Amino acid sequence: MNIKIAPSILASDFSRVGEEVALLEKNGADLIHCDVMDGNFVPPITFGAQMVRAIRPHTKLPLDCHLMTLHPETHVEDFVRAGADNITVHVETCEIPTLFKKIATYGVKMSAVINPETAVEKVFPAVEEGADMILLMSVHPGWGGQKFIPETLKKIEILRDFCVKCGCPALDIEVDGGITEENVKDVIAAGANVIVAGSAVFRSKDMAATIARLRG
Ligand code: DX5
Ligand code: ZN
Repeated sequence: MNIKIAPSILASDFSRVGEEVALLEKNGADLIHCDVMDGNFVPPITFGAQMVRAIRPHTKLPLDCHLMTLHPETHVEDFVRAGADNITVHVETCEIPTLFKKIATYGVKMSAVINPETAVEKVFPAVEEGADMILLMSVHPGWGGQKFIPETLKKIEILRDFCVKCGCPALDIEVDGGITEENVKDVIAAGANVIVAGSAVFRSKDMAATIARLRG
């Protein structure tokens, strides 16, 4: 499978995010991961569709929007209009089949995500509903720079097996949180192929080298 690196702008310099996403593209990123937080589903507030609209002209890379918000159905259209290429919604916050039907009408990719404490089986219906990608949180959502939760590896394996059984063996499985050059190999070996990394990329002295090493 081709490994895709999706740096999270959560770890970027918010006073110049446009330049930061251009830098990510220049240094070999495959996607831009936008961590949207509403202060309700998770305590912090980061940004909304306005940020996606602001960075859209600065990169040709797909904008991968992770909605850590309650009532995602009320936000989807704003993100589509702002230029999002993928919308990822938390299974814990909505009725996936209904919301997927709505997102599909916009012609953008639709994905589902579960938190570390949510059983992996809870995201199986999203696979059956035709998700373009499944995101597994490997930290409790809300903050960058946390430690990777190792139990996530088993969830990745179980999910990849389920995708094989469902006839979509190559479905994108994205993992988000605490991924470093030290643990990324285990994450990929478990069956993930889309890697979100915030701190590891933005703290790096050589962004291109780090992105290349994360890709293996
Ligand atoms: C948590 C965020 C973080 C972030 C990645 O809600 O989703 O997982 O993107 O953060 P790092 O790579 O710094 O752990
Ligand atoms: Zn995220």
